[in-house]
Amino acid sequence: MKIRFDKMTVAFKEVVAVNQLDLEIPEGELVCLLGPSGCGKSTTLFALAGLYKPTSGKILFNEQDVSGLPPEKRGIGLVFQNYALYAHMTVEQNILFPLENRRVPKDEARKRALKAAQLCKIDGLLKRKPSQLSGGQQQRVAIARALVKNPTILLLDEPLSNLDARLRIEMREEIRRIQQATKVTTIFVTHDQEEAMSISDRLVVMKDGVLQQSASPQDMYNHPANLFVAKFLGNPPINIVEGSVKGGKIYVADQHIADKEIRDCEHAYIGIRPEGFKIAETAEDKKRGFKVKIDYCEVLGRDTTLHFNLGGVPVRAIVISEGNIKSGDEVTIVVRRHCLHVFDGETEVAINE
Ligand SMILES: Nc1ncnc2c1ncn2[C@@H]1O[C@H](COP(=O)(O)OP(=O)(O)OP(=O)(O)O)[C@@H](O)[C@H]1O
Ligand SMILES: [Mg+2]
Repeated sequence: MKIRFDKMTVAFKEVVAVNQLDLEIPEGELVCLLGPSGCGKSTTLFALAGLYKPTSGKILFNEQDVSGLPPEKRGIGLVFQNYALYAHMTVEQNILFPLENRRVPKDEARKRALKAAQLCKIDGLLKRKPSQLSGGQQQRVAIARALVKNPTILLLDEPLSNLDARLRIEMREEIRRIQQATKVTTIFVTHDQEEAMSISDRLVVMKDGVLQQSASPQDMYNHPANLFVAKFLGNPPINIVEGSVKGGKIYVADQHIADKEIRDCEHAYIGIRPEGFKIAETAEDKKRGFKVKIDYCEVLGRDTTLHFNLGGVPVRAIVISEGNIKSGDEVTIVVRRHCLHVFDGETEVAINE
């Protein structure tokens, strides 16, 4: 099902949880809704599910306004952070539960439950109670229960936050696999950017109820729309230093560090990803680059992290381990063009070529 938000606002008295959201989610995509605590992620999901009513604006499924449709008529499967399984029921009874009030014949219901259980790889656990399952298995039951209704939209609100790090990685890959097998349009809420980048077709970043950017993970990483998005994606994070742009030249504290064909800007934030620095090798590199003193150098197998100062700000560069750079050395550094981002100092919006 294709989803479209049309200037949707959800307000609780004076708190505007979601502010004029304009967003389209194509059919069959896995979308991660990402942002800091309180930015409106859950509210957006609850409005989609029909649990909250938009204060203004609309929600459309395949271009049909569903704003007035009750939750049970929306064809949505929902999975929450605390899977909320029924402790007194078996796994099978838990999965069957959503079908109970739907007049699905018993045989048919059991077939569908088995199919959902197989998809989630818990068909060997049907007779167990939730207390006899691991966290990851409980999460699979919750997903199977959401899928048994054959939803056209699957909503997952931080479904992995109760799991340990290793299981989280395993389960996020499982969610991707299940989503690709069912092709159900899925919205996955998380505040873990790495998790979001690794599984989604599209990222949607929100801040204070306002949509910041919607794009594929790679596009968003390479072309962040503003300073907030640039800082939000990437680990280790992007380096940010204050500087200026004049005549296509980028300056940090009077030091010309790179060129970019963009408009002049007296006060700008210059963002450079850690992998965006290179040690100058060729004569041309050396002419183009600038000198820095390495404060500290960490060799970590394949990569080396260099720490140095840029315009009085400590920055971090990740380069391939080769040569023999030591702490205290002076080296010439070049900035890779596609890893350099410039943001207006007042609006914090990206200045593009
Ligand atoms: N029922 C409610 N009544 C009043 N305010 C609410 C209600 N639900 C959410 N809010 C407020 O709306 C804002 C957005 O909340 P929401 O739960 O959507 O955030 P979130 O992005 O899901 O955060 P988290 O990552 O912590 O789950 C917050 O400021 C929150 O306090
Ligand atoms: Mg939430």
